[in-house]
Amino acid sequence: KPTSPTGKVEVGVSFGDDRRAQAGEHLTTAQGLRLSDTDHSLKAGARGPSLLEDFHLREKITHFDHERIPERVVHARGAAAHGTFRAYGNAESVTKAGFLAKGRETPVFTRFSTVLGSRGSADTVRDVRGFAVKFYTEEGNFDLVGNNMPVFFIQDGIKFPDVIHAGKPHPDREIPQAQTAHDTFWDFVSLHTEATHHVLWAMSDRGIPRSYRTMEGFGVHTFRLVNTAGETSLVKFHWKPVAGVHSLVWEEAQIAAGADPDFHRRDMADGIEAGAPLEYELGLQLLPDTPDETFEGIDLLDPTKIVPEELAEVVLVGKLTLDRNPTNYFAETEQVAFHTGHLVPGIEITNDPLMQARMFSYLDTQLTRLGGPNFTQLPINCPHVPVNDNLRDGMHQTAIHQGVTPYKPNGIDGDRPIADDTGYVHLPRPVEGVKVRANPVSFDDHFTQATLFWLSMSAVEKAHIVEAFTFELSKVYEMAIRERELAVLANVDGELCARVAAGLGLPAPTGKPAKGVVPSPALSQVPVAPGPIA
Ligand code: HEM
Repeated sequence: KPTSPTGKVEVGVSFGDDRRAQAGEHLTTAQGLRLSDTDHSLKAGARGPSLLEDFHLREKITHFDHERIPERVVHARGAAAHGTFRAYGNAESVTKAGFLAKGRETPVFTRFSTVLGSRGSADTVRDVRGFAVKFYTEEGNFDLVGNNMPVFFIQDGIKFPDVIHAGKPHPDREIPQAQTAHDTFWDFVSLHTEATHHVLWAMSDRGIPRSYRTMEGFGVHTFRLVNTAGETSLVKFHWKPVAGVHSLVWEEAQIAAGADPDFHRRDMADGIEAGAPLEYELGLQLLPDTPDETFEGIDLLDPTKIVPEELAEVVLVGKLTLDRNPTNYFAETEQVAFHTGHLVPGIEITNDPLMQARMFSYLDTQLTRLGGPNFTQLPINCPHVPVNDNLRDGMHQTAIHQGVTPYKPNGIDGDRPIADDTGYVHLPRPVEGVKVRANPVSFDDHFTQATLFWLSMSAVEKAHIVEAFTFELSKVYEMAIRERELAVLANVDGELCARVAAGLGLPAPTGKPAKGVVPSPALSQVPVAPGPIA
């Protein structure tokens, strides 16, 4: 018998399973009426016209007319697989998260994506890749919503609409679809120099992965772990592919985008079907939880910065195996809803201002994309634990909830369900500050780590980066934008700048321009109104 996706009550009719599986012997209408013919509309005579009273024609076409839902505003193009996460147990001392306890096996669903292209765009374009993992843990769903690059273009989520508007195809011509290059993107990143480190990653071979199975993944932000004793540490999450990190070369990527736009999703689905699962190890880069939330001078709340592995090793704590293809793309890959706010005890977010905005954005967008507040009842989003959330009604409600006390406190039902400290308790942490639109001064360093990245590359990797910048900037119509980006590169490395300038046939700029044109006011310079908290 079908149970409610909330795990709370039965949905009702016992034929529900057949409806979902579309497994009945006979072709029927949505009402279960057997049909005699679905190939001819009801007409006034064999030569028409069709009759309005043809309820089957109308139902069939109406449902078809409404098959599409809005694609994701970002990460619209994706492919996914089911699998299992097995914990090694060595993270137990730093986090009480149950799914990291020794020997624990947790079902997962993982969706890989490009960021900027539409749902039907090609897989092998130069772009960031999403790496989103939903863990169906015994403590509720935990989502690690990461990317294949460890840094981001912006430091504050309030800039997300700006960076995405600049990166999406031009509003007038809807060009480019395949992220080959465009003026708006280079206009934005050349003016907004905090993007520089991420732009370097995107122009490197990491921007054109060979396969999902050869991509690293990163949680990007710094998270906070809490153990059973209440002790905390800061952490960066890493996914290390067992097959190693491999990329395409640009010519391969372009040919594949034309000859097989489904290159990555085909590779994943075919591989799984052939018995070659995708495998990754989860790594923790553990950092002391100091009051200033910095490590070796790196501000851990700044998502444009990494912590080099030479300074803090990545400890492997479990293995992800993706070995089962979805049965239905729409029901699973399209309707899955990831959210940075899907957390479990033992894992908390930090005050990284990019993360703080994400905590709002995911649920908000899903209310539109998935048609109201009940998408948590969709099978792919259902936790694998009983849910008793006191949430009622709403668009697309499919559960028949029972009981009359969806409120607390209630004296009628013994004040059930229970809320106590066996649940998620936010670590009590002091918060103070003046209300201000500003970043910490440490966020103003836009180039040090971009330089570090460039200098860590091999000669071949450097050549690929130079070629990528040269190719992309050569497609920019506006000369002033090309020149401004060269000035940004001059801040990263003189050789990089000179080689790209030579490729573009432009003089390499001399002297360093001012840092970002939108400087963040240092907190010390912001006048603070006197008030009772002073
Ligand atoms: C979707 C990662 C920043 C808003 C996604 C997805 C990933 C991702 C992997 C695809 C999820 C899926 O497969 O369904 C990241 C990372 C970020 C970042 C790693 C930075 C470190 C942001 C920011 C915002 C944002 C700053 C907004 C303030 C969204 C939205 C979606 C999305 C609206 C679509 C979700 C949906 O329709 O279900 N992001 N993102 N992201 N992200 Fe982000």
